[in-house]
Amino acid sequence: MKKGYFGDFGGQFIPELLMPPLIELEEAMATILPTEEFQTRFTNMLKENVGRPSAITYCPNLSKDLGLDLWLKREDLNHSGAHKINNTLGQGLLAKMMGKDVLLAETGAGMHGVATTVAAAMLDMKAVIYMGATDVVRQAPNVNRMRLMGAEIVPVESGTKTLKDAINEALRRWLSDQETTHYCFGTAAGPHPFPTLVREFQQIISKEARQQFMDRNAGRLPDVVVACVGGGSNAIGMFHNFVPDESVELVGVEAAGTGEPGCYSSAPLDHGTDGVLHGMLTKLLQTVDGQIEPSHSVAPGLDYPGVGPEHAHLHATGRGHYVTINDEQAINAFKVLSRREGIIPALESSHAVAYAIENKDRLQGKSVLVCLSGRGDKDLGILDQIL
Ligand SMILES: Cc1ncc(COP(=O)(O)O)c(C=O)c1O
Repeated sequence: MKKGYFGDFGGQFIPELLMPPLIELEEAMATILPTEEFQTRFTNMLKENVGRPSAITYCPNLSKDLGLDLWLKREDLNHSGAHKINNTLGQGLLAKMMGKDVLLAETGAGMHGVATTVAAAMLDMKAVIYMGATDVVRQAPNVNRMRLMGAEIVPVESGTKTLKDAINEALRRWLSDQETTHYCFGTAAGPHPFPTLVREFQQIISKEARQQFMDRNAGRLPDVVVACVGGGSNAIGMFHNFVPDESVELVGVEAAGTGEPGCYSSAPLDHGTDGVLHGMLTKLLQTVDGQIEPSHSVAPGLDYPGVGPEHAHLHATGRGHYVTINDEQAINAFKVLSRREGIIPALESSHAVAYAIENKDRLQGKSVLVCLSGRGDKDLGILDQIL
């Protein structure tokens, strides 16, 4: 396999001026990540600050309702409320040990922005967070959290004012501030080495979940593992250690948007074509001329027209199976999990839960392990308008 590629996808499609920090980062991955100092400090932070290992939870009521065994991997229980912190503490510590003092990040739902701000505060660094102006309004509680913990928030007014535009502007900022600043990319996408680096920090999800599931199920593996896919970091973390287990079906859930004919979606694997965005060759929602199309999802963290290259590869090889769930189905899952199990999921994670609900006939009697990537407190404002 070519360096930085997953099959045909990946690479480093970036301006020449961004090569030095990417080379510096790749070198740091080779020299700093394997050291005992890094590994010990990182493991301690995950344990003491994040609360790892996160639990797996059996859902007795919903399992009975649906006729299957539903298990959740509880990334929502992590400090700061989502899987994002596994990555930001890893990248933050790496950047600190590289001698950087600023963590720059983009954010959609605000969870990555919050997690980056937490890492910066813990490591005595400064956080600068780029966020689409639309998301600043949709995810106000997270904006307040970031401000409280000392982040500088930069609202982005260009394009659709969502995640894609925030990444564009953050990459521009990195170009000028690369000496002092690490770009703490929030998902398993972007130019090499980010997809590999982010997977490295997120694979702990499946490392723990695989063992926890076997411990609770007399050594058996789950039949199906499910995760929502925005850029792809919780899903690649949830899939990674199950990829060699051929009996385990891996299902990635993309956002279909409203689901109406011709609507904008956030489902490049299901509806996209090959193209280049944010430094990677991957599947994209684009016009025949290669212009990026607007994306939409009720879940801000899924609202992205591209996807991490490893998912494009798992899709192309058939090892991963990628499906769509629309806004209404996700909102239904949000309500159902809240009422039946007392767990309020993030709207992003609700897409993965909805897969089990909508496919219950096909899944009868099977064990389904869903990555609950985050908690839904941040979404109560959006739902006030809908419920
Ligand atoms: C709770 C939650 N889940 C999932 C996602 C989607 O991101 P990814 O595909 O990188 O896991 C986000 C993004 O903000 C999120 O906040």
